[in-house]
Amino acid sequence: MFTQPPMLWYNQKKFELFIPKSQINLIVEELACRINKDYQGKKPVFLLVLKGSIFFASDLLRKVSLDCVVETVSANSYGAYMKSSGEVNLILTKLDITGKEVIIVEDIIDTGLTISKLIENLKLFNPESVEVVALLSKPGMRKVKVNVKYIGKEIPSRFVIGYGLDYSEHGRNLPSIYALSE
Ligand code: IMP
Repeated sequence: MFTQPPMLWYNQKKFELFIPKSQINLIVEELACRINKDYQGKKPVFLLVLKGSIFFASDLLRKVSLDCVVETVSANSYGAYMKSSGEVNLILTKLDITGKEVIIVEDIIDTGLTISKLIENLKLFNPESVEVVALLSKPGMRKVKVNVKYIGKEIPSRFVIGYGLDYSEHGRNLPSIYALSE
């Protein structure tokens, strides 16, 4: 069984256990319940923002009981650093979302730049609606106002890894979420 150490090190940086897997499970369960209720009878398209949302999305979507479609988009704003570069690179393939209800699945909303640029681009496809489900949100870091309907947990402005979130591509596979020690 994978152990859940109270702290660990990546590239000489110390991270401490912040959100244990048991708490993540409860958060994901609650988000799925809300989406199942709100989208009853609808067939939403879940748009996964790669790579960070893959672990969250795979747990969330297995709790979603709706007839739905899964699409992906690649976004990158952090590069190898612990801070948003302020520039967002999006790789959007051809998406069949015209007239559809889209739910963007994000790991974390930080400055809000990624999600606002993505929403702006999606609107060009004329979807019926666009909402966002994010596991985490750092409201203290916002540079642009974004409307996120489903937020799992608001956290302080700390750098976190695990459960899909990375530090220079490392740490994504940790089952729990760890925060950089202050
Ligand atoms: P935003 O555009 O600043 O809102 O950043 C969104 C993206 O930055 C997220 O999808 C993550 O990939 C990355 N990110 C933001 N905060 C963190 C963090 O604390 N750890 C790891 N990645 C982060």
